[in-house]
Amino acid sequence: MSLFQRSRSVLLAVAAAGVVVASGVAVIGTAEAATTLGASAAEKGRYFGAAIAAGRLGDSTYTGILTREFNSVTPENEMKWDATEPSQGRFTFTNGDRILNQGLSNGSKVRGHALLWHAQQPGWAQSLSGSALRSAAINHVTQVATHYKGKIHSWDVVNEAFADGGSGGRRDSNLQRTGNDWIEAAFRAARAADPAAKLCYNDYNTDGVNAKSTGIYNMVRDFKSRGVPIDCVGFQSHLGTGIAGDYQANLQRFADLGVDVQITELDVAQGGNQANIYAAVTRACLAVSRCTGITVWGIRDSDSWRTGENPLLFDNSGNKKAAYTSVLNALNAGGTTTPPSPSSPSPSTPPQPGGACSATISLNSWNGGFVATVRVTAGSAGLNGWTVGVTLPSGTAVTGTWSASGSGTSGAVTFRNVSYNGQLSAGGATEFGFQGTGAGPTATPTCSAG
Ligand code: XIL
Repeated sequence: MSLFQRSRSVLLAVAAAGVVVASGVAVIGTAEAATTLGASAAEKGRYFGAAIAAGRLGDSTYTGILTREFNSVTPENEMKWDATEPSQGRFTFTNGDRILNQGLSNGSKVRGHALLWHAQQPGWAQSLSGSALRSAAINHVTQVATHYKGKIHSWDVVNEAFADGGSGGRRDSNLQRTGNDWIEAAFRAARAADPAAKLCYNDYNTDGVNAKSTGIYNMVRDFKSRGVPIDCVGFQSHLGTGIAGDYQANLQRFADLGVDVQITELDVAQGGNQANIYAAVTRACLAVSRCTGITVWGIRDSDSWRTGENPLLFDNSGNKKAAYTSVLNALNAGGTTTPPSPSSPSPSTPPQPGGACSATISLNSWNGGFVATVRVTAGSAGLNGWTVGVTLPSGTAVTGTWSASGSGTSGAVTFRNVSYNGQLSAGGATEFGFQGTGAGPTATPTCSAG
């Protein structure tokens, strides 16, 4: 190697190191402004993503913009319940995997959307209710999150469960009718299946402090206080021609609860204010240190679900709109915002019992009934099948079970693993649940192998 070649390779190494510094912390000195959304967001420790559709991946204009501009993808429809479990227990991941691979091969993050939702359910789930639906829903969460384990940055575990209007309460749905704890049961199942993914609650009409966002805020606060695993809240931000003055303050109050916040489905009606509203959302996210990224719900106006509203950053031909420029400028002007501290969920290492396994119960009870969530933790040898024994107080009866098969409804009852959650590696854990009438169990359950 000549001296010239040697010094050139040293220079390249220094330059490469400089890029790492610039993308990880802050732009130093007079670095040129980033020229794509993803690169600029990355300089601020954030991602900039788009919802994409498997059916459009053959369109080179579309994929050209996608790979150039975005460093996160969300499947627009491909990971929803109707797409992934069209008949009960038969899972199809072909199109979800196409989105996943498109994202991963481009070095992008992948947001999972959405495990449970009242809409886009397969017909078979729409016709279920009660414990059959609860059990099917939790199984769905477990199976889908397990299939994508380790590959998803954030999952929308539950989508749109709160009602619009002033009640601040839950939306009525078949899922809601299985019991108010369906959301926490879903989050616990998702955590057990994929401990590395951030678990989000996602909703719309929450873009400011209002009755609906406050209802969600109260749920998140309750979850955090009781140790229900939740890491993030998604604000869809399907916006019209205005934006709430307290948009940023609303993000901040959620962040102050100890969760990340993400803008998950941004699109803004075309009109005089479109570019300004996009910029305001971008600035709000940059100003909240736990706002980890922004996703727009499609690439070109012609890709949008809001037909005729032209709500996206690229026109039908793939040209950058004024809204694009205003987002990029807002990102570049964002200064040297401290990137959010890494807050990947760090589930506490489960105790590794000396025996084959151990089980703990957490109880959600009310006058006359209860829901129990049981966590089964394998011992140091790992498990191929488990049995949990629970002693119920007299007068208590089990009325439904999910993610386990139960035997007996009163007195001493046992629960065995089902096909998909019997195998646990050493120290690994899974959860199942049951509900019943009367007072919940108070004694520690027993756990044995097989
Ligand atoms: C929309 C998709 O964009 C459409 O293609 C589909 O027909 C209906 O769903 N909130 C959500 C998204 O969480 O999943 C929705 O996506 C838009 C509203």
